[in-house]
Amino acid sequence: MSQREGRFDFVVVSNRLPVDRVVEADGSTTWQRSPGGLVTALEPVMRAADGAWVGWPGKPDVEVEPFEADDMHLVPVSLTSGEVERYYEGFSNDTLWPLYHDVISPPAFHREWWETYKEVNERFARASAEVAAPNATVWVQDYQLQLVPALLRSLRPDLTIGFFNHIPFPPYGIYSQLPWRRAIAEGLLGADVIGFQRSSDAANFFSAVRRLFGYGTRSPEIRVPDGAGGHRSVIAKAFPISIDVESFEEVARRPEVIERARRIRQDLGDPATIMLGVDRLDYTKGIGHRLKAFGELLRDKSVSTGDVTLVQVASPSRERVEAYMQLRDEIELTVGRINGDFSTISHPAIAYLHHGYPREEMVALYLAADVMLVTALRDGMNLVAKEYVACRHDEDGVLILSEFAGAADELRNALLVNPHDIEGIKEAMLQAIEMPKRERSTRMRALRRRVRENDVARWSQTFLDTLRHVGHR
Ligand code: G6P
Repeated sequence: MSQREGRFDFVVVSNRLPVDRVVEADGSTTWQRSPGGLVTALEPVMRAADGAWVGWPGKPDVEVEPFEADDMHLVPVSLTSGEVERYYEGFSNDTLWPLYHDVISPPAFHREWWETYKEVNERFARASAEVAAPNATVWVQDYQLQLVPALLRSLRPDLTIGFFNHIPFPPYGIYSQLPWRRAIAEGLLGADVIGFQRSSDAANFFSAVRRLFGYGTRSPEIRVPDGAGGHRSVIAKAFPISIDVESFEEVARRPEVIERARRIRQDLGDPATIMLGVDRLDYTKGIGHRLKAFGELLRDKSVSTGDVTLVQVASPSRERVEAYMQLRDEIELTVGRINGDFSTISHPAIAYLHHGYPREEMVALYLAADVMLVTALRDGMNLVAKEYVACRHDEDGVLILSEFAGAADELRNALLVNPHDIEGIKEAMLQAIEMPKRERSTRMRALRRRVRENDVARWSQTFLDTLRHVGHR
């Protein structure tokens, strides 16, 4: 069967479309751009190149025709509720996610989930092949779609194909547990360029490719036999992702946001130090570890309620996956215990918020936070760390950052911690609380330079330049 061709020269493919479906009071539906960094980065590229975005609208059983929004052509891929269970909640978020994050939670291996993962990846590949113009560039995003590059290449050998893995790529000893380790790696090798967050992720991928297939590698190049006696060259290397630094800073300079930050502090009872955690409620984020450290500081009387308040925003995530339900129970039990033991009528020990908030409110929280806690046990990058830094135009605030987050490769002037070391987190918290103003500014200035040097526009340009180069060989 021959594959139809489309009219778009640039196609982005991701599990979710960059828009949210909003149901109005009269029952009609509209689409609102979701606030993600990826769409901000790719918007100019989309506009310049006549781009299309292929993705799932985020709800099961929603059949929508392609539509235009914000100058982008959006191509919805529908999933039934069974497919959402097996492909999204199951294989993506209960097999690959825990496996790629160092098996912090045990991954479940189910053959039915794998079958649906393959089917859904095929659907994404077909939808992309149908909209891509001859010789177009297609950029596939993230672990939910690792089979798409090879599927797409077999449907449309004329395309230039990029893949970016937003999450870690695990060491071979972990990756090799995956019963479908060869199929997944073959899927990725269909791309011309495979991007990772850290060079250690790229190195792990090289080692998987050598061990599984024995292909010749000379970083950043992998030589993949083309079946006709020759070979294709695949580039695999790190392209650390970032945020739209200017737009965060712009929001952080708005007088009403600065005023809101002041009000937040006042509403918390004007503590000397506000510590902040902002995470999706995910077991990779080390929320429990930071709560434990904070609870012990209160118990030891190293800090006291009223002087120090911890604000923890935990936005709801993947709530139908068992490990996430369990995590929520654990975290909320811990918060309840600490608050029961240490809060007073006027001062909470922990202000715990199980909500997502609009960007303005998040920025106000960043501005109010004297200490930002990023204690992930494993994280591809962690953009919260970069957002905090981008917002601190006052050159104040201390970032405590896990060395197991990708951001630690760049943000060396943070207080780096091993989140498994509770004593280490406690020491870093105390060091941050007591840090003199001069040191805070020196560190924050250096952090801000780093974040500004590599914003998300630079990330996408660098990736796409590499892809262009390879595609034109
Ligand atoms: C991580 C992943 C993304 C994912 C996001 C939110 O950042 O790398 O691919 O979209 O989490 O998770 P969700 O499952 O809600 O899409």
